[in-house]
Amino acid sequence: ILGSSKNLTTLLIGRNFQHETMPVDDIIGSFENLRFLAIGNCPLSGKIPFWISKLANLEILILSNNQLTGTIPAWIKTLSHVFYLDISNNSLIGEIPTALMDMPMLKSANSRVFILPVYPAQTHQYRQAFAFPILLDLSNNKFTGEIPLEIGQLKSLHSLNLSFNDLTGQIPGPIFNLTDLQVLDLSNNNLTGAIPATLNSLHFLAVFNVSNNDLEGPIPFGGQFNTFGSSSFDGNAKLCGSMLIHECGSEEAPPATVILTKQTDYKVAFVIAFSAFFGVGVLYDQIVLSRYIG
Ligand SMILES: *[C@@H]1O[C@H](CO)[C@@H](O)[C@H](O)[C@H]1NC(C)=O
Ligand SMILES: *[C@@H]1O[C@H](CO)[C@@H](O)[C@H](O)[C@H]1NC(C)=O
Ligand SMILES: *[C@@H]1O[C@H](CO)[C@@H](O)[C@H](O)[C@H]1NC(C)=O
Repeated sequence: ILGSSKNLTTLLIGRNFQHETMPVDDIIGSFENLRFLAIGNCPLSGKIPFWISKLANLEILILSNNQLTGTIPAWIKTLSHVFYLDISNNSLIGEIPTALMDMPMLKSANSRVFILPVYPAQTHQYRQAFAFPILLDLSNNKFTGEIPLEIGQLKSLHSLNLSFNDLTGQIPGPIFNLTDLQVLDLSNNNLTGAIPATLNSLHFLAVFNVSNNDLEGPIPFGGQFNTFGSSSFDGNAKLCGSMLIHECGSEEAPPATVILTKQTDYKVAFVIAFSAFFGVGVLYDQIVLSRYIG
């Protein structure tokens, strides 16, 4: 029915197709103007279909809460406008491909405000503007291997969620390059080694979770790390820090080099205000969006 709607820009068809297979034909791929595609909560089996690679103008792709299998295809990096990629809660396997680290909009985004026409009721039609965060959500899949060092290339990311996978190895140091990061969730994996001390330079980080891994050593000190509670670090018996029962011995303690001047007080206040503002925004998006996208 929609096959001739070449001008379609927004297609939200989640919460449908109970226990079917992701279509493999090219019909949806011919929507050359599609900017927003959401097929979440179906649950659909099958693979991430090739026709998605033909949606040259796609900006937001949501395939979460399905039962997709297989790996993340290498063509993902050809989606040159995608800045919001949510494939969480599927059964995807393999390593996190370095192709993801070449997605242009995640590397350097000219962040756009996407105007989503939403009509909640026939008598109250209006256009609601959503500012989506620049997001990569691979959580709750079966990804294995190490987090690629190239993750440090995704400089425009606001939100990175790799939780609930089987990732091993260390938290890559280059994550400290992701200076716009506000949400970092690496919880519920098998990560080892120390939390890179340089992560305390991520001034916008409002949510940080590495719980339930096998991390060790001192928790970084200063910056936003002074604001994270123990729940961010739970389930890592070998971590130590002032907010944990397991305090660091003097030989493990990180150097305390934070000098609080009036100016840094001001910056801290700004970061807290910004984070609170962002948090409320995200929460609002989630509540409103979940009603329309699924
Ligand atoms: C699609 O968009 C083009 C260019 O904006 C326009 O000329 C055409 O009439 C539209 N087609 C339909 C079916 O709306
Ligand atoms: C994951 O997706 C399935 C459908 O495939 C759904 O039943 C389940 O509630 C989802 N889990 C979470 C944590 O959202
Ligand atoms: C990350 O993903 C998991 C699983 O999908 C979810 O439960 C968790 O809330 C997400 N983390 C953040 C900070 O949103």
